[in-house]
Amino acid sequence: MPAPDSSAAKSSSKDKGLNYLTTTLTAPVSPVEAALRPLSFADFTGQPKTVERLQVMVGAAKRRGEALNHILLSGPPGLGKTTLAFILGNELGKAVRVTSGPVIEKAGDLAGLLTNLEEGDILFIDEIHRIPKTVEEYLYSAMEDFRLDIMIDQGPNARSVRLSIPKFTLVGATTRAGLLTAPLRSRFTLQTRLDYYDIPTLMGIVQRSCGLLKVSIDEAGSREIAARCRGTPRVANNLINFVRDYAQERAQGIITREVAARALELLEIDAAGLDEMDKRMLRVMAENYRGGPVGMSTIAVAVGEEPETLEEVHEPFLIQEGYLQRTPQGRILTTKGYHAIGLKAAAGQSGQQGSLL
Ligand SMILES: Nc1ncnc2c1ncn2[C@@H]1O[C@H](COP(=O)(O)OP(=O)(O)OP(=O)(O)O)[C@@H](O)[C@H]1O
Ligand SMILES: [Mg+2]
Repeated sequence: MPAPDSSAAKSSSKDKGLNYLTTTLTAPVSPVEAALRPLSFADFTGQPKTVERLQVMVGAAKRRGEALNHILLSGPPGLGKTTLAFILGNELGKAVRVTSGPVIEKAGDLAGLLTNLEEGDILFIDEIHRIPKTVEEYLYSAMEDFRLDIMIDQGPNARSVRLSIPKFTLVGATTRAGLLTAPLRSRFTLQTRLDYYDIPTLMGIVQRSCGLLKVSIDEAGSREIAARCRGTPRVANNLINFVRDYAQERAQGIITREVAARALELLEIDAAGLDEMDKRMLRVMAENYRGGPVGMSTIAVAVGEEPETLEEVHEPFLIQEGYLQRTPQGRILTTKGYHAIGLKAAAGQSGQQGSLL
């Protein structure tokens, strides 16, 4: 447990090797992901509303010489939450310390993290919806009053110690904003959600990534990848890597529409970007449950995947693109959903057994 004053807490937290990770702006995730990650607002395309909100806050904080207010970034995986957290640090010229909800197990872990920050630094908590409830309560006063009242010792010696914390900025990221408690959510000045990217924006991202990787691609090739990456830059970058290999091994090294399409067919990614798991979900719903309504946990068992993964990764895209609907009774396959797996909804209705197109 940290000793009663914050400087001692600092050294004791270090000695104990608390579970957190400090990352600099260029810290590699994977070498390719790091090389492709935009480092400034100028490099980051798409998400115009979120970017403008962040730019306004950064501009104001810099002008006033104050710490940025707390920010919650939500949205499906791979859309740029971590990227934006690092961009904020970069634009402010402040350090970004990275940790994640489940890693902060107890109040002492949080104390170690917070007391090591400097004024204006960013603490980035990924998967903030997974922070233990007991720790969450300590975060409230840290965010609001920049202090932490923690209990040290147990039994008759137990006493509360107040640590003051430098004015820091908490940037939280979550794929499941709905799982955040209301008190935690309300302590973020800005809550902003990232959406799937449209095709023109993704084409720009694909061209930028290809430029950085020194891969030749024509416009139709970038359109093909953009159309098949489920609106997600991370997926686009992964596809580029495979298509680049394919172009090298099976074509003349240049990514054209034809080369991209052939490579992605090899990965069983269809023209709309649906992958194997997306289609398995749709198929299970059509074939086993007459198009629903069916609960996500039932679908998950049938396709052999965790319900959380389906809800975080697959379902948002399927709903946004109109393959699935969410109702209080469960998920329903739409006519478009039937079509995606080569079936026709009976009488154009969902919730019915499909027949072959
Ligand atoms: N707007 C963008 N422009 C260019 N590249 C982007 C953009 N957004 C994301 N990327 C790329 O996609 C990759 C994944 O983004 P990032 O790691 O920020 O996603 P995330 O939202 O944090 O995902 P997760 O929820 O899985 O942590 C980055 O490495 C970056 O290269
Ligand atoms: Mg991330």
